[in-house]
Amino acid sequence: APAPLVDRFGRIHTDLRVSLTDRCNLRCTYCMPAEGLDWLPKAEVLTDDEVVRLVRVATQRLGISKVRLTGGEPLLRRGLPGLIARLSALDAAPELSLTTNGIGLSRSAAALSEAGLNRVNVSLDTLRSERYAEITRRDRLTDVLDGLYAARAAGLNPVKVNAVPVRGVNDDEIADLAAFAAEHGYRMRFIESMPLDAQGAWDRERMVTAEEILGRLGERFELVPVGRRDNAPAEEWRIVGTDAVVGVIASVTRPFCGSCDRVRLTADGQLRNCLFATEESDLRALLRGGADDAALEAAWRTCIGGKGPGHAINSPEFRRPERPMSAIGG
Ligand code: GTP
Ligand code: 5AD
Ligand code: SF4
Repeated sequence: APAPLVDRFGRIHTDLRVSLTDRCNLRCTYCMPAEGLDWLPKAEVLTDDEVVRLVRVATQRLGISKVRLTGGEPLLRRGLPGLIARLSALDAAPELSLTTNGIGLSRSAAALSEAGLNRVNVSLDTLRSERYAEITRRDRLTDVLDGLYAARAAGLNPVKVNAVPVRGVNDDEIADLAAFAAEHGYRMRFIESMPLDAQGAWDRERMVTAEEILGRLGERFELVPVGRRDNAPAEEWRIVGTDAVVGVIASVTRPFCGSCDRVRLTADGQLRNCLFATEESDLRALLRGGADDAALEAAWRTCIGGKGPGHAINSPEFRRPERPMSAIGG
């Protein structure tokens, strides 16, 4: 077995998030402006061969066992089932998951599952179609609901639903979303919004805290804590009288950096040791400069060796990373 990818604090990294594109077909108001962003030129985006090579190095030489494909919106990546098939055919193939907004998932879920995708997380902030159009600036709620249904029908398991509650926008729907997910067998998670939007408009007062989320859920359901799975960001509760579980990802009010096991690769081949890292390691330059596997492995270990204790959202010294959430992959 490869030596673990360990940092100065003894945290072992087994989980890799790979952003496949920085583009998106929605324009969620808490994420990016209506006009979109300056997307990466195609030549800067890693090719399938390059992604496969880096994932192979990560699994075979660094002990990465879970790979999550993200965006932007990863379903916009051409040939995604083919890429997934190549990743799932690797020796020591990782568990493969996808984080998507669900647009187009109803058409691709079966092919993704057949290619070897294990599970999927789908973003859905509201069940009301007018509100969906206001939040995402696109009228696509039915596509997402169809996508969720297709994901489950294709055998992707679990199917998780992510919602970011925003005060005065959708915070009145927290219990409704949990009930919807419980009814359909999806695993609901509520996420505290983080200061990673492209506009720089994040406002602590509009963030709905874990405590408030649990308060809203408590008005409708009786909850029993079930804790955290492995090193997952989500803390979970079971809804009494059902087998449904709801999660809260409280990055701001209950940071979980002490058990972080994640490393991130951007669509343009930059390795980040933290969502909030201010520095990146240029793996694309190494790849395109002809580096061998040992040199790539060494670069990963150096990057993780420089990882700090965690984010500083709650400190007066906090500085945002240069890239917004959509270009990091969440
Ligand atoms: P699984 O637990 O493997 O299902 O995935 P996940 O919940 O980590 O991934 P997903 O892409 O669904 O992300 C849900 C939310 O968690 C997003 O807001 C992510 O930005 C956030 N998140 C994921 N990993 C981290 C992390 O390491 N640190 C912080 N602060 N947030 C994270
Ligand atoms: N803070 C927290 N979560 C966010 N997401 C998008 N922007 C933010 C933010 N600023 C969520 C998306 C998606 C997940 C990957 O991250 O809604 O569900
Ligand atoms: Fe796209 Fe995700 Fe941002 Fe929404 S939150 S605009 S789905 S990248």
